[in-house]
Amino acid sequence: MGEMAYAKGLEGVVAGESSICRIDGEGGRLFYRGYSIEELSSESSFEEVVYLLLYGKLPTRYVFDEFSQRMRSARALHPKVVQMIRNFPEGGKPMELLQSVMAYLSGYVEHRIEHSSECNCRQTLHQVSQLATVAATYYRLKNGQDYLEPRMDLSHGANFLYMLRGREPDPDEGRIMDACLVLHAEHGFNASTFTARVVASTLSTCYCSIAAAIGALYGSLHGGANEKVFDMLERIGSVDKVEAWVGKAFEEAQKIMGMGHRIYRTKDPRSKVMEDFLKALSAKTGRHEHLDMLKKIEQLATPKFESKDKKIYPNVDYYSGSVYHLLDIPKYLFAPIFAVARIAGWLAHILEQREGNRIFRPDSVYTGPGERPYERMEART
Ligand SMILES: CC(C)(COP(=O)(O)OP(=O)(O)OC[C@H]1O[C@@H](n2cnc3c(N)ncnc32)[C@H](O)[C@@H]1OP(=O)(O)O)[C@@H](O)C(=O)NCCC(=O)NCCS
Repeated sequence: MGEMAYAKGLEGVVAGESSICRIDGEGGRLFYRGYSIEELSSESSFEEVVYLLLYGKLPTRYVFDEFSQRMRSARALHPKVVQMIRNFPEGGKPMELLQSVMAYLSGYVEHRIEHSSECNCRQTLHQVSQLATVAATYYRLKNGQDYLEPRMDLSHGANFLYMLRGREPDPDEGRIMDACLVLHAEHGFNASTFTARVVASTLSTCYCSIAAAIGALYGSLHGGANEKVFDMLERIGSVDKVEAWVGKAFEEAQKIMGMGHRIYRTKDPRSKVMEDFLKALSAKTGRHEHLDMLKKIEQLATPKFESKDKKIYPNVDYYSGSVYHLLDIPKYLFAPIFAVARIAGWLAHILEQREGNRIFRPDSVYTGPGERPYERMEART
């Protein structure tokens, strides 16, 4: 074997083939199965996008009605799953709960393939539907409320808000929540999706592959970034303090959360759609503080990055936390919402991985000591 190239963080390394998602990092474009994210987020529901990701094409009306019915009827939780959420230690974090519940859910799937630990996940849509109910139920129980049966007549996003609030959201809010799920549903070989594929490549179950992906999404460089953006805004406090804060952040070479991306060399197309949602919700609620601060940070930071020849622009997380905030969703649910959406992409990738599977097994550059004589314990210093 010749000398192998090493790329820290696997940057530029091609780790597989996929027909699910195309990202044009230079042009700032994103496509699921060939359809642009702008069109999908304005025209399609999350359920339609789940179908698109899993089956590779947009559904006809007839097919969609059946699919949506199937997805919606898989929303309700088994009482033992509710019990598990109730029993989760108070100090546990919601992403840790989602990760644990995901593996536990596999025991409650209705349609297992006979004589196999494998579930027929494309058919049952069990995990995709349940994750939203798990996240909403976690919120409800934490707030001293009871489990609420999901509604069959609402979209995935609107039902999620309904479960959090106990009342139906207005149609604009339901639509925005659903579109946020569309925007987060898929994004190529990112860290969590790659994790899902690595685990799937060992022929593990989709539940365990997804549980591993949730663990990867948990980190603040991935799904935890919008919480950090929210903290940043809370620390800054008001728009008049932004200029001093940005100056200090650059002096101290601090990362500005919600900015930068491994692939995008321009503004993330999802952040543009998110910005529009934030504008709409700010106008509707009269709450402009976050929007004003984010716009000002962006205006000040962008030329500073450009002057250093760094292509760092807002990513999807820059505006998303503030959108959720205006939908009255608490910060601790931001990352779980990302998982509720991205599970669609994870599942599509797991299925694709299984089609032409070869187990992942990269190499590493050894930097440890050369062979050396063993020292018995008495001789060690
Ligand atoms: C997304 C992210 C993890 C991509 O990481 P990456 O491709 O490994 O890029 P790096 O972290 O190596 O950054 C490359 C350079 O840009 C700088 N940089 C990247 N993102 C930055 C940010 N948000 N603020 C300030 N500087 C940033 C790094 O400090 C580094 O500078 P250096 O070359 O002088 O050391 C990174 O941009 C980041 O940490 N962003 C903030 C967290 C975030 O928003 N994550 C959500 C992603 S959707």
